[in-house]
Amino acid sequence: EKGGYEHFMLKEINEQPRSIADCMRGRLDANNGRLVLGGLRDYMNKFQNADRIIITACGTSWHAGLVAEYLFEEFARIPVEVEYASEFRYRNPVINEKDFVIAISQSGETADTLAAIELAKSKGATIFGVCNVVGSSIARATHAGSYTHAGPEIGVASTKAFTAQISVLTMMALKLGYQRGTLSENRYMQLLSELETIPSKVERALQLNDKIKEIAAEFKDSRNFLYLGRGYNFPVALEGALKLKEISYIHAEGYPAAEMKHGPIALIDEEMPVVFIATKDSSYEKVVSNIQEVKARKGKIIAVVTEGDTSVKHMADYVIEIPETEEAFVPLISVVPLQQLSYHIAVMRGCNVDQPRNLAKSVTVE
Ligand code: M6R
Repeated sequence: EKGGYEHFMLKEINEQPRSIADCMRGRLDANNGRLVLGGLRDYMNKFQNADRIIITACGTSWHAGLVAEYLFEEFARIPVEVEYASEFRYRNPVINEKDFVIAISQSGETADTLAAIELAKSKGATIFGVCNVVGSSIARATHAGSYTHAGPEIGVASTKAFTAQISVLTMMALKLGYQRGTLSENRYMQLLSELETIPSKVERALQLNDKIKEIAAEFKDSRNFLYLGRGYNFPVALEGALKLKEISYIHAEGYPAAEMKHGPIALIDEEMPVVFIATKDSSYEKVVSNIQEVKARKGKIIAVVTEGDTSVKHMADYVIEIPETEEAFVPLISVVPLQQLSYHIAVMRGCNVDQPRNLAKSVTVE
């Protein structure tokens, strides 16, 4: 049951330190420099020699796919395309035997994702599944796969499944990079050790709950929200906006922060809360200047920053400090306060958090 929590969603948000650890258990052993994904073993050759990786999914799983695009390109130097399953399947896409297709799905029952898999399979591509539900249709339709082992996710808004998907995809990218030699032994070992610390860092991030509740109280009556991030945090911005939309029914949009000046900046006034994900990484300085642009137009700024950050503090109306990690692993932590923010706003608005209107946990219709 809900284990003492008021909603499944809150329980599942709080389970993430454990679900991420469960996902890595038996796979990652940083001390001995070992990373084993059983499902990948027989297909490693194909994976390593793929001309291209195509990722297909819907909704939150598609956002995990976007994070994976950055991971695979950075660590393994293989070109990646991330496709909405619903578009991919109807578009007569160019696919062949040298393509490695990764289908991501929590439920393993999403109709569009399943159809995209069948299409890619018919063209001779290798299909790898990243599913949470064991024995699901997608798990059965793929050639091979790795389960996310996040445990049952009941809340319609996906939370722990998302971080588990990113955990699997991160392990895949590191393994691939190491095998292809695009990642040096040293760097590989360093990354493995850091990955192992993620569950405890997520645990620390969860402790910001009370602060986030205060922010939620402040903004619960807003009619619109903007979420902005760059690089690895761009998909996190999309995910934060989706979470808010689906459970609180507040209109929210996620954008890469640099795109703001190409349109969305026109929306900014004192009524517009803007959530920035501005962690200390390679695009930090750029994001800071985007924050200044919003401030100059009197937008209300909520910023997710790295612990100890001082510059953003002076600009933002609210700051949420999360533990520092490798740039590539930040989404696993930065998404957590955004999940909490949407949760508290929805509860304060009296919404049915676990079963939002018009939505089903698995979308088995096209
Ligand atoms: O079960 P799947 O991962 O295939 O589901 C895909 C989407 O329907 C799903 O992520 C949806 O967007 C969630 N409600 C998001 O919280």
